[in-house]
Amino acid sequence: MTREVDLVIRGARVVSPDQIIEASVAIAGEHIVAVGHDDTMPPAQAEMRTDGLYLLPGAIDSHVHFRDPGYPNKETWKTGSAAAAMGGVTTVFEMPNTNPPTGTVEALRIKLKAAESSYCDFGIHGLLGDESIDQLEALLDAGVTSFKAFVGNTFGNLPAPTDGALLEGFEILAPLGIRTVVHAENSSILFRRQKHLQNAGRIDSMAHLAARPAVAEIEAINRVLTLAEWTGARVHIAHHSAADSLYLLREFKSRGVDVTAETCPQYLLLNTDHMLKLGGVMRVNPPIREARHNQPLWDALMDGTLDMIATDHAPHTPEEKTRESIWECDCGFPGVETQMPLMLTEVNRGRASLMDYVRWSSVAPARAWGLYGTKGVIAPGAHADIAFVDMARAGTLSQNKLQSISKISPWNGRAVQGYPLHTLLRGRFVMRDGKLVADAAGWGRSVKGIQKMPTPKPRNMEHYSSAIIDAPEGIPANAAPLVDAL
Ligand code: NCD
Ligand code: ZN
Repeated sequence: MTREVDLVIRGARVVSPDQIIEASVAIAGEHIVAVGHDDTMPPAQAEMRTDGLYLLPGAIDSHVHFRDPGYPNKETWKTGSAAAAMGGVTTVFEMPNTNPPTGTVEALRIKLKAAESSYCDFGIHGLLGDESIDQLEALLDAGVTSFKAFVGNTFGNLPAPTDGALLEGFEILAPLGIRTVVHAENSSILFRRQKHLQNAGRIDSMAHLAARPAVAEIEAINRVLTLAEWTGARVHIAHHSAADSLYLLREFKSRGVDVTAETCPQYLLLNTDHMLKLGGVMRVNPPIREARHNQPLWDALMDGTLDMIATDHAPHTPEEKTRESIWECDCGFPGVETQMPLMLTEVNRGRASLMDYVRWSSVAPARAWGLYGTKGVIAPGAHADIAFVDMARAGTLSQNKLQSISKISPWNGRAVQGYPLHTLLRGRFVMRDGKLVADAAGWGRSVKGIQKMPTPKPRNMEHYSSAIIDAPEGIPANAAPLVDAL
């Protein structure tokens, strides 16, 4: 007799990047064990009819700031991950600009402790900076999945790594196959511009954009991809904001560089017209730009130049976002909870298919971070991470209803159609019928144990700092060994 499973979901439409199939899904413990015709489903403890709903692999958000440790007035792991669960997001990758920053094993331990209250699974981006270069391997051993380099200055004021340190970091990480997220803006341009604008007495919201022109993004992406190509390091461009720098992604991808890139709903759907109305609420790095950037970014998602949607969930308190001078408004706003309804609304408008959306929200990030197969797909053997989506449900986004402590959002009042209704994480509901399942706090865990990056492809290793330093005096490490040097 067939063994009884825990749950059979009947009558759903299962979405993958290639197709949408009418199917039932059987779940035993944390895993999916069958996807197929209703008649083939094993007996189950519980059954659920989901006629009309779409089952999407849970969204994987490569870019969230949960602020814990350091800024619990802005967010905690519990509130941030609750927002994720309510947004159909089953896995997040959390950023290191906390206090202490995640650049030491001790700081990582503090963060992992805080993450014990998580509603969603998570990866941790460790900090790649001048101070942490000699900690990278220890951080990986202790549980980070990946790294982040704040090449452009932003909240937390972590100093940008010097180019020398960035190159050395890539030399350490390339042979390990580990991917580094880069906030790609040129810090020196930003600082000088901001100082000039401040000296001129500018405090209006447009001054923020003026301080961070697209060329700062173009220059930084070019530099980072040059170092990545030389070393063979895997990199990921965070929050890609400018149409003008897309050509670099196309160029370096065509040359075989393993670069992935994200953009965020705010760069696709908002522009300076909104900034003029909303002011400091919309202050974010990189800045939200002129309307001419919106469609090219969308086109780049469609053609694969941009790989995925992330949110840069960057919560601050309403007070911190609404000060008179734009320079005093903290940069960033919450997004992990609103991404799915916003993007599904665009699907309903015919701008993309649900299959495209699943590629951007789940499949591409699962591949980039070495999780694909266990996550990013609804298939036997995968984690039962599922967003149950109602494409007909319409509503209005309201900042007061957000789980995030940061109840201030540029999306407030925006009409949407298409919502996640239930969120299943490894076989357990963390949201059901649009409500958080409170006792699921702590069900989330690190994805470190299931991460499997593809074979590393380091290049030019004979020129790495380590090779030069370790080589006997005057002899390049790649030279044929001398008999008496052996
Ligand atoms: C982020 C934050 O608040 O931590 N802010 C932002 O404007 N995007 C930092 C970041 O991702 O750059
Ligand atoms: Zn950033």
